Amino acid sequence: MSSATDLLKLHLAQQAARGVTHVALTREVQTRLRVGRSATAAKPSASAAPPAAVPPAAAPSFRRVEYAATPAGPTPAPVSPTRPMPERISLSDPSPLAPQPQSRDEQLARLALEAENNDKARSLGTLRDTMVFATGTPDAEIVFVGEAPGAEEEKVREPFVGPAGQLLTKIIQAMGLRRNQVYITNICKFRPKIDDGRFQGSKNRAPSVGEMLSCQQFVLAELEIIKPKVIVALGSTAATGLGIEGTVGRLRGKFHDFRGTPIMITYHPSYLLRREQEDGGGIAEKRLVWEDMMKVMDQVGLPITEKQRAYFSKARG
Ligand code: URA
Repeated sequence: MSSATDLLKLHLAQQAARGVTHVALTREVQTRLRVGRSATAAKPSASAAPPAAVPPAAAPSFRRVEYAATPAGPTPAPVSPTRPMPERISLSDPSPLAPQPQSRDEQLARLALEAENNDKARSLGTLRDTMVFATGTPDAEIVFVGEAPGAEEEKVREPFVGPAGQLLTKIIQAMGLRRNQVYITNICKFRPKIDDGRFQGSKNRAPSVGEMLSCQQFVLAELEIIKPKVIVALGSTAATGLGIEGTVGRLRGKFHDFRGTPIMITYHPSYLLRREQEDGGGIAEKRLVWEDMMKVMDQVGLPITEKQRAYFSKARG
């Protein structure tokens, strides 16, 4: 963290992402801000400005649902002119100005801020403005990776909340988990435009390779921070974005390797919904996805009950 002001901005962004619109500042933080401002007093605009607040629209959409009450992170030692001088000089004491180790929550929140300002993606001109980052817990053993946000996701700035997202939630629940016990993200952090995006309505499209590449560094960093036991790529677009080419029909059913982490590629929930509209209601594909998910459960050591094994069994299908 380069300064107390940066830390405060990050904290405010995290709070804003959680829907908090007002944050009380302790006397200590107020003092530190005054110290920070007086250091830049030569610049009149900086000294006159009130403490920066991050507007909700610019806030990252990473949300750690499970531990939302956790304080935003370590507070660096106060840099205060009134701090008492130590009585002896010890070379082993860490400098109060040394960079503070960041929690995974903070690393993800910082990444979400960087994704918000992703010029590479924004300058393409083919993606819409709203950045949708991720949802879930940094402690997740399973990370689900989709393609890109759609109309519903763009509205609430959370991945997989529309119809496909509701089906994904049911799959996660069938595995005996809650959404806030896994991590859900997308290869592309912006909803792709159709034509110039002005009259797009609820229409969505898959991101192009260039669009995925413009966001690739973020998904790679998320996986690096979380270090899940298993990655699930939803659909062939997400698999391509992670460098694995092929059809889901050929790739699914077994683990592949993604930089040392097992990855299961399975059908995207949108595909299951499309198949539901056709003859047979897509039961055959749902069964295949469920078989893939049981392999994922096995891989992370989740128990599988007889009842779970029987979901979509031939007798029921
Ligand atoms: N489809 C995706 O791939 N991602 C979303 O966030 C929503 C739908």
